[in-house]
Amino acid sequence: MKKGLFIVFTGLVLMCILAVSVGVSTKAEGTSMTEKKVLVAYFSATGVTKKVAERLAKVTKADLFEIKPAKPYTDADLDWMNEQSRSSVEMKDKSCRPEMASKLKDISKYEVVFVGFPVWWYREPSIIDTFIEAYDFSGKTIVPFATSGGSPIGDSWENIQELAPNAKVFRGKCLPANVTEDSLKTWAAEHL
Ligand SMILES: Cc1cc2nc3c(=O)[nH]c(=O)nc-3n(C[C@H](O)[C@H](O)[C@H](O)COP(=O)(O)O)c2cc1C
Repeated sequence: MKKGLFIVFTGLVLMCILAVSVGVSTKAEGTSMTEKKVLVAYFSATGVTKKVAERLAKVTKADLFEIKPAKPYTDADLDWMNEQSRSSVEMKDKSCRPEMASKLKDISKYEVVFVGFPVWWYREPSIIDTFIEAYDFSGKTIVPFATSGGSPIGDSWENIQELAPNAKVFRGKCLPANVTEDSLKTWAAEHL
């Protein structure tokens, strides 16, 4: 009789443990990485950074905003071998601010803004400077990320910090085009 009671009791305890653990794992899957409101804003001329930005927004459950130039870049504009091409001319002039096609309606609600771009001439493209200057980033965190043909993200964060003096700007990182969701999750968590 005693043995029977013991088996029933042990069974009940095991069932409780199982129920609790199932509940916890279900909750964890649905839990976002942060309570903070996050934005992933990016510029991408040929689609590489765009894919990384989309993946990053997915894992951080962030809103996504594409920084589009009012005048799209043609292949000829992107010819870095040609000193006279639009990108070459723009990037030689640090005060150049290419116009954006549209503005984000309300940036005030975001606490953390990931800013993505392709490395152009070892730094952020000028339209990123246009984007940063267009808003008040006071008290917000900016995390730059980039893709490139091999160069690191360079001094981009310092340039961005200059344009958003009251923001906390992280050094950021150049990410491989095929960066996995898991790697992005780990990296993003360091800044949230
Ligand atoms: C005008 C221009 C300048 C570039 N400068 C660099 C550079 O300095 N270093 C580098 O590694 N890649 C450079 N690249 C390559 C891009 O950073 C790379 O292809 C990037 O992944 C493209 O991203 P996107 O498809 O989002 O535009 C340059 C590309 C262009 C068009």
